[in-house]
Amino acid sequence: MAASDRQGYYDDLDFNSPMTEVTASELVAMLQRLDPLRVVDVGCGWAELLLRLLEACPKATATGIDHDDALLARAAHHAADRGVADRVELRPQFGGQLLADADLALCVGSEHVVGSRTDALRAFHDAMPPQSRLLLGTAFWATTPSDALFADFGQLPDLGDLLDAVAAEGWRTRSLLVATGRDWDRFEFGFMADMADDKVDDYRRAYLTRRGVLGFAYLLLQRS
Ligand SMILES: C[S@@+](CC[C@H](N)C(=O)[O-])C[C@H]1O[C@@H](n2cnc3c(N)ncnc32)[C@H](O)[C@@H]1O
Repeated sequence: MAASDRQGYYDDLDFNSPMTEVTASELVAMLQRLDPLRVVDVGCGWAELLLRLLEACPKATATGIDHDDALLARAAHHAADRGVADRVELRPQFGGQLLADADLALCVGSEHVVGSRTDALRAFHDAMPPQSRLLLGTAFWATTPSDALFADFGQLPDLGDLLDAVAAEGWRTRSLLVATGRDWDRFEFGFMADMADDKVDDYRRAYLTRRGVLGFAYLLLQRS
């Protein structure tokens, strides 16, 4: 494949969310301890976290859902490389019934697949069995945003309000991991590597205005 054909394939990113190897390892270890048997990843992209989890949990099977065929093709390729292809189904559409059988769902940077964050919290809560878990990766304001950032990203909670909102929807937060500056830099500069040359400088400057202001939290939630 020529380099230009690969745009949108995110070759320089391991994850399509703010995540270094350190953070990914911590998340996989945390999820592995739950010993999940049925995992559903909504908006999985190329499903790197899901595939690592399957490697760590030999009894688990999984479904990854994403509407982007190219990303699912990358996921399928990596699943075969990792020897977990027979335990993961990759599909373009979200079906509510899938969640009824799942003991763990992942929704990292993908709540918009369902709607708003509140929509997602409600949909997972209503569809999943009692005591099931949800790893939600979601944005918040780490510090007060400028007017320009607010205009770009809109209404987001601060971390305290985020945790209160989660609790109000019937979820107990079992663990919290907030993306670090390293997680963000890895993500944003990996993202820029996929970008056309004439867009990179503006994107980099814009990123620096939100660095440390826009936060991203990985919440391990348990249905109460
Ligand atoms: C920010 S990415 C996160 C990907 C992945 N969870 C990760 O952390 O690497 C959001 C993903 O949601 C997918 N997506 C967006 N809308 C969708 C929809 N309506 N149905 C399925 N997938 C969707 C996109 O294709 C994209 O891969």
